[in-house]
Amino acid sequence: MAVEPVNLSEFQELAKQALPKMHYDYITGGSEDQYTLRENVEAFRRITFQPRVLVDVSRINLSTNILGYNVSSPIMVAPTSKHKLAHPEGLNPLGRVVALVLSSRSTCTIEEVASSCSGIRFFQLYVFKRRDVSANLVQRAERNGYKAIVLTVDTPRLGRREADIRNKMISPQLKNFEGLLSTEVVSEKGSSLEAFASQTLDSSLNWKDIGWLKSITNLPILIKGVLTAEDARKAVEVGVAGIIVSNHGARQLDYVPATISVLEEVVQAVGGKVPVLFDGGIRRGTDVFKALALGAQAVLIGRPVIYGLAAKGEYGVKRVIKMLRDELELTMALCGCCSVKEITRSHVRTERDRLR
Ligand code: FNR
Repeated sequence: MAVEPVNLSEFQELAKQALPKMHYDYITGGSEDQYTLRENVEAFRRITFQPRVLVDVSRINLSTNILGYNVSSPIMVAPTSKHKLAHPEGLNPLGRVVALVLSSRSTCTIEEVASSCSGIRFFQLYVFKRRDVSANLVQRAERNGYKAIVLTVDTPRLGRREADIRNKMISPQLKNFEGLLSTEVVSEKGSSLEAFASQTLDSSLNWKDIGWLKSITNLPILIKGVLTAEDARKAVEVGVAGIIVSNHGARQLDYVPATISVLEEVVQAVGGKVPVLFDGGIRRGTDVFKALALGAQAVLIGRPVIYGLAAKGEYGVKRVIKMLRDELELTMALCGCCSVKEITRSHVRTERDRLR
């Protein structure tokens, strides 16, 4: 009988067995020394719970609201690219299961995912030197019912991912760019992903460009990749509709802090003016609870979803999401919270609390 994983790290193990090394390394890896990669997960382990007892938890409700849309749980799929490395159907099995953010660098098009995805969809944008390419993507997202643009702001250049350099990682076809940009960049020296990024990404992107983005779309704009209170305040000033605390799954600048350790300061700086979402290192329902307790409105999951996809296709994605939901529900019950709103700061104790 096939092995049935009981947690996300067992899904990761199955994905490792199922994938060629080059592709597994691409999905799982971080940049340089991978300090931040380890920290993203480890920092959750340093946060403990302060549960309340004798609360009637016979009914638990996970539903919540993200940017005004009702969703069945505060868990969304993060924008990750190149799903066809993990599964021949690419992103489609994800779309059938959950709310998601589609990556610009997806191996399925904006239009394909619009027809396969039944949950809410946001579109993740990179700004290219050829602004007309970014504008084209935004307009297609708007036409196809995506509800927000998620501008990734931590990637003026691609982080140094040494496994991809060593493996001479080759990108599959990135279908959103067909007829717009050639993605067939081959690098003799190392990762073709790096070569594609350095040829195409606009590293002059800056705060003023939020105005440009607003001028080409009516959709709300979220920025993904904020790690400091200062940037969070600037983001609010320039009128974004939301902030995603993210370090790109530790694939960009190494030695930035774990996202969970900066979430609270960003939430405080924003002061409730716009919603704050969170990603990085979530591997358990307890991690989701901790992020919500520290002020995230919802969380996004990157690698675990691809592990589910690689291990068991659509069924695997469903299982990964269900596992996280079930673990979150159990955590809520054991902490004495019947709804997402009842999860508060006082349910967790951080390292900083212990030093006070
Ligand atoms: C990513 N991430 C990412 N982010 C983004 O804005 N655009 C993208 O195209 C991608 N592509 C991508 C590919 C792969 C294989 C991974 C693992 C990650 C980052 C992603 O959205 C998210 O920030 C992290 O994955 C969250 O961390 P965890 O959940 O993977 O620990």
